[in-house]
Amino acid sequence: MNSVVPHQQRVLSGMRPTGRLHLGHYHGVLKNWLKLQQEYECFFFVADWHALTTHYESPQIISESVWEMVIDWLAAGVDPQHATIFLQSRVPQHAELHVLLSMITPLSWLERVPTYKDQQLKLKDKDLSTYGFLGYPLLQAADILIYRAGMVPVGEDQVVHVELTREVARRFNHLYGREPDYEERAEAAIKKIGKKAGKIYRDARRAYVEQGDQEALEKARQLLENQQNISLGDKERLFGYLEGGGRIILPEPQPMLTPAAKMPGLDGQKMSKSYDNTISLRDDPQVIEKALRRMPTDPARVRRDDPGNPEKCPVWAFHQVYSQNETREWVMKGCRSAGIGCIECKQPVIDAVLLELKPVQERAVEFAKDPTLVRNIVMEGCQRARDIAEETMTTVREAIGLGYR
Ligand code: TRP
Ligand code: SF4
Repeated sequence: MNSVVPHQQRVLSGMRPTGRLHLGHYHGVLKNWLKLQQEYECFFFVADWHALTTHYESPQIISESVWEMVIDWLAAGVDPQHATIFLQSRVPQHAELHVLLSMITPLSWLERVPTYKDQQLKLKDKDLSTYGFLGYPLLQAADILIYRAGMVPVGEDQVVHVELTREVARRFNHLYGREPDYEERAEAAIKKIGKKAGKIYRDARRAYVEQGDQEALEKARQLLENQQNISLGDKERLFGYLEGGGRIILPEPQPMLTPAAKMPGLDGQKMSKSYDNTISLRDDPQVIEKALRRMPTDPARVRRDDPGNPEKCPVWAFHQVYSQNETREWVMKGCRSAGIGCIECKQPVIDAVLLELKPVQERAVEFAKDPTLVRNIVMEGCQRARDIAEETMTTVREAIGLGYR
């Protein structure tokens, strides 16, 4: 599978298992994954080691959440036929790459990552002055680079981690991608791709190196992606040679910014476990209905005949996610004129949320009933992930000079 799909087309993302998934995850992350799995080769994993960096004192929540989270993914529609689902800690190669990358990563790069200090301040009740927490983004870099993923769907706050990944990859390639006889090897590799492709490659390389022609660079990259007959090592060499550098052993990924989902919480703030304003994907419909009925509204509407302003009401934020124009107009008019009551106004939201979650909950029940199936899906995913990770590690060890047996 991995040799057919070019690695630039590979998507990788992870989620930390620290509790039940809610509508914020569904609208913010999962719906995006569902779309990506149709278009790309996708790897989605449970980042249990990352969860441990903040929950090392109370790891129970991790083991409790791992399988439930996978069930939530599957119930939401993540499809093991289209995406590889796996557990980070079952692919120990991530840890090996992490330790090797730690040798070449300056401390200052990690100290200046904004999430490092931000999270320490935000999670004051936890002691995050640990080695593991400082290394959080580097472990993430290893997660990404080990699959040579081209695209990493992340939220805004995680973009800096992908940027760090790019810097680390560049440093790695710079240090270990240069072989003494590099140019001769690259030239020999060009001969292997055939006369015609070889000429296109050389022309494009010249256009890029001499004139900075980006289009030519892109064209040559495409050409290389489609080469079936040369070894991975030669491919890396030719990618690097194209840009005038050494072998590109670890390609730089691109962050793929997940469109900021404005899934509001029950109180109008962003939906988040830490605000205790969530609707979990597997909450009982009656619980969901009750929570929505209890939701605060525009404080100016004390009595039924007080007019209100939807802009000041968290229910309106739900209408923006769930309602069609017609319903929204009905809300706008009815609220401002006190023509409708708040309970009446909430009903279409309640209906829409329950309707959206119904198939998800039905699938969740099925998966929850069959732990062996869920386990098998994940174990197969882990095996596939390990195979690819090991392939990268073989190259990485050899490049550093640790390839001895
Ligand atoms: N740090 C990510 C988060 O908190 C989770 C994560 C770990 C991740 N490794 C990753 C995301 C690799 C993308 C790619 O959301
Ligand atoms: Fe909010 Fe709707 Fe009530 Fe207006 S009518 S205050 S929008 S719940």
